[in-house]
Amino acid sequence: MTALDCNVEDLAPRPIVAAALEAALERSCAPLEQARTLPAEVFTSQRVFALEQRELFARRWLALARDEDFPQAGSFVTHELVGERVLIVRAEDGVLRAFYNVCRHRGARLVDEPRGCLRSAIRCPYHAWSYGFDGALRHAPRMDVASSAHDLGLAAMPLARHDGFVFVNLDARAEPLGALPRLEPFGLARLCRVRRLDYQLACNWKIVCENYSECYHCPGVHPQLARLADLASGGFESTPTYNGGPMALKAGVDTLSTSGRSAWAQLAAEAPPSRLVHYYLVYPNLMLGIHPDYLLVHRVWPRAPARSVVDCELFVAPEILAAPGFDPAGVIEFWDLTNRQDWALCERVQQGAASRGYRPGPYHASERCVHAFDAWYARAMGATRPRREARS
Ligand code: FES
Ligand SMILES: [Fe+2]
Repeated sequence: MTALDCNVEDLAPRPIVAAALEAALERSCAPLEQARTLPAEVFTSQRVFALEQRELFARRWLALARDEDFPQAGSFVTHELVGERVLIVRAEDGVLRAFYNVCRHRGARLVDEPRGCLRSAIRCPYHAWSYGFDGALRHAPRMDVASSAHDLGLAAMPLARHDGFVFVNLDARAEPLGALPRLEPFGLARLCRVRRLDYQLACNWKIVCENYSECYHCPGVHPQLARLADLASGGFESTPTYNGGPMALKAGVDTLSTSGRSAWAQLAAEAPPSRLVHYYLVYPNLMLGIHPDYLLVHRVWPRAPARSVVDCELFVAPEILAAPGFDPAGVIEFWDLTNRQDWALCERVQQGAASRGYRPGPYHASERCVHAFDAWYARAMGATRPRREARS
């Protein structure tokens, strides 16, 4: 390494959060019985929000799309992420690539639409530079850029695919996509999107993750869910990249829907039929609900300390979607109702976190997944790790 390669900032050990906040975060990393929930500041502070954007959302793998969104060359998705609008495109060679959505001439944003199919090139609306779907500069009107075209391609970012999800990471030096739940038996990659529900929430994104991770609240809040599921049956699995576990359905219940009945084939060919729903939170913001006959995906996107956007998508097997008389209304109604019940609680917690009377509290024994998420978050933000690991 030469002197010029050495960044003094990299050598200066320092926490990424202030010492007082770091101490509060460390309390969430203690064993469950002694641990305390997260401090109010992480739900309300603009400074913490900015740190999260930099340390978590700009350095983690995030599921921005599904393989099915790119049926042909030129198919694209754009997605807002940490102030960027990421562009994912399928090229003629079939490869999916993710780019910064920024022209290499004078920086105009290239594509505005959330999804679609480009005809023959990515064309800048400003001076009409055009790029191939592989990101290479093809043409700059009345300019000779042939000799430098290879330096003027769109800036790419790491992309990975798993179980039909397309993950992108803004960190060019990102580690490979980490271990994800072993879901091969469910064949999630082949599932097709049926419907997407969008919600705007007046709460911090982590409150949504925490709420997803426990059913301690379910008996009083979700009477429709309580009728169908054994709420005390939650399992628990925790790794550095996700946590979750199964919940059992009650006898005679096929799935979670308004009726509790299902005529759809099971995702996993199991005999006897599965009576489990598997819930996983893949850090930081991907929530998977693998039901016997469908997949429900929630993603939460931070917009401000007390403002988040959630999208909730229903996926089924292609033959179910194509079957005559296919009707997902019972599942959609059930989850829209359950979601709204949850969002009201999440906003209630945000109101409490903004109070001078808020104090971190203890976890219930059934809140192991909440504790696992909070401890992951605390560590990701710099708590309980040697200072020299903290990234500047
Ligand atoms: S900014 Fe895109 S062509 Fe000029
Ligand atoms: Fe809930």
